[in-house]
Parts: sequence; structure tokens; C-alpha cells
Amino acid sequence: MKIVAIIGARPQFIKHFPFELACKGKVDLITVHTGQHYDENMSEIFFTQLNMSPPSFTLHVGSGPHGEQTGKMMIEIEKIIEDTKPDGVVVYGDTNSTLAGALVASKLHIPLFHIEAGLRSFNKKMPEEVNRVLTDHISDLLFVPSGIAVQNLKDEGVEKGVYEVGDIMKDLVQYVTGNDLLREHSPKEKNYYYATIHRPYNTDDKERLTYVLETLEQLDKKVIFSLHPRTKNLASSYGLNLEDYMNISFIEPQSYFSNLAYLQNSEGLITDSGGMQKEAYWLKRKCITIRKETEWKETLVDNANILLFQDLSKINDELEKQPHSYNINLYGQGSSASKMVDKIIQFIN
Ligand code: UD1
Repeated sequence: MKIVAIIGARPQFIKHFPFELACKGKVDLITVHTGQHYDENMSEIFFTQLNMSPPSFTLHVGSGPHGEQTGKMMIEIEKIIEDTKPDGVVVYGDTNSTLAGALVASKLHIPLFHIEAGLRSFNKKMPEEVNRVLTDHISDLLFVPSGIAVQNLKDEGVEKGVYEVGDIMKDLVQYVTGNDLLREHSPKEKNYYYATIHRPYNTDDKERLTYVLETLEQLDKKVIFSLHPRTKNLASSYGLNLEDYMNISFIEPQSYFSNLAYLQNSEGLITDSGGMQKEAYWLKRKCITIRKETEWKETLVDNANILLFQDLSKINDELEKQPHSYNINLYGQGSSASKMVDKIIQFIN
């Protein structure tokens, strides 16, 4: 049995690791890396650190406007799928790489399996929302992390092929914490908040990005900010001098282990990332999400995660309030990848 898996952006390398492990000895995996993310510390470092097989194909599509980027990916993915004739195609999450893989598989009538299906922000201005809605509607198997995601799909009339299996990122966090793998990556710094901000609505406008940075500048603990290349490039294009922010230490994008270690050792997280809201929850760190909405609504229970957007003045107060407890089984018990592989094998047979 032969499956093509499409990856391309940082969160997908992470999600691919448990899936690759679960495929071993059961399914031949052909991995296509679109090249959406290409910097060493946005891509290569994850393969090395997690000891993942190198991609079977790398497309070097790189950055560009959405249509151009997605179109270039589709042209190349189509050729690979026609040449390799897989029994199915796996796509992860909601990036342009996800949509490109999904459209090609669907048009070539190859069974399509979507990992992390059913999530919704109900904000169609987010490219990710469009990518995930379209992908869900053409998928044959939809692996969803939660009951809310099942209901979202039901509300759109998608019921066939939907399996609630937990979240694949939980598999990895459980593996890492269970094997105490973060200890050697612990940062020297103490008593700080950790921050990651890269979404278009926080970065694509000079005034907005300045407001976010000025808010972090005023916090009562120092902030360690892992700087996504998109945020770095935009800040520089606005003429912002990051060195002017004395309370913020900007660091390069981190490897998987270092990123989690920074988070685990922090006093709280400030983010607009999807995945890090869950990682903060599993590592029991208070999270402030700088967005109007979240796809991961379950993390909001007991204020473990708080949404703030227009008015950020409450960040300090909110960071100090701790939830009463954390549900250790949120998004499954860490065995979702093997459940997915079993369902895929069943489907193909
Ligand atoms: C993408 C995903 C987003 C995900 C994020 C994780 C889409 C629509 N969005 O957003 O869902 O949360 O990845 O990181 O697919 N850049 C570099 N080097 C790189 C990668 C990016 O310099 O290795 C810069 C470029 O300036 C590029 C910009 O970042 O133009 C945006 O990159 P892109 O992959 O298009 O989207 P992200 O904003 O990273």
C-alpha cells in the first residue's frame, strides 16, 4: 500500500512525524515537501531533530502570492501523483500546501485523507479557513480532533468518513514529555513570557504590529519573542527597529524541542498560532491568543486560553490568572496517528 503525504509548512513537519512513525511496516510513504517553508530553521531543522526521513520529493516552490504559490505546487504535485500512482493522499491542516495536495488528489480521483479536519474559525478572511473548508468537502476520510469539529462538519452536511481520533500534535507532545526530551533544551532565561506572532491580521498593517509590540514592551515581565520570518520581514519593511523594544528579546524561529522548552519554562504564552494554543494547554501554561476567534475552542475552558484582540490592555492581568485545572485528555490520549493509519488501511482494502 502506497500513500503520498504532502507537507510544506512548519506545523506540517511536526504533524508528519507521528504519522510517519505509525506507517512504519504497514504503509509505504512517499513524502512531498512543497518548499512553502524553506529557511533552515523553518524546515530542515525539524527533519534533523526529529530524525525524520528526508522528503522523497522537494518542490522548492517558496514564497509568493497565494494563487501563484498554490498553482505552482499543484503543477508539480500532479506530476508526482501521476508518476507514483498512490492508493491515497494525506494532507495536514490548513495551509496552501494542504489545499494544493487536496485539489490535485481529488481531480485525479485518488482517495484523500485530511488530518486535522473539521476545525473552523468562521472567519473567511483567513486563508487557512478557506483552505480547510475546501479540503474537508473533497476528502474521503476526515480525521477530527474533537466533538466540536465533528459538529462543525455535520453543520455543513459532511458526515461520511468522519472519525474523531484525537489530535496528532498531542501524540508528539506526549512522546516528548513522556521521555523527558525537553530538559536538555531548557533555556537559561527565567521569569519571562514567551511570544510568537505571525498571522496577517497582526502583522500586515504597520499600526497593528506596532500596537502589538508596544503592548509586549509594557508587560511586567520580559518577553522572549520567537520571530517568524514573515513578521521579521514586515517589521523591517515598516522601518521598525526591533532593538528599540527593550523589554522584548527577539530570537530566531526555534526547533521543535527548543520551542516547547521555551514555552514550558515560561510564565505564559502570547501567540496567534493555532498549534501553540494546544501545546500551551498540554504543558499547563496560561495562553493569551491575540485573535478574535480560535479553532481550538476547548482550550478556552476555565480561561486556560483567553482571546484578546482589539484592546490588549488586559494582557498583564489575564496572564496572572491561572485556571483551576487542566484536562490531561484534551484532544485524545496521544495515539491518534495509529488510529488514522488503521482507518486508512481499512478504507483502501
Ligand atoms: C503559513 C500558513 C499558516 C501557518 C504558518 C506557520 C498558509 C496560507 N499559511 O503561513 O497557516 O500558521 O505557515 O508558520 O499556508 N518566509 C521566509 N522563510 C520561510 C518561510 C516563510 O522568509 O522559510 C517568509 C516569506 O517572507 C513569506 C512569508 O514568510 O513571504 C509568508 O510565508 P508563507 O508560508 O506564505 O505563509 P505563513 O505566513 O508562514
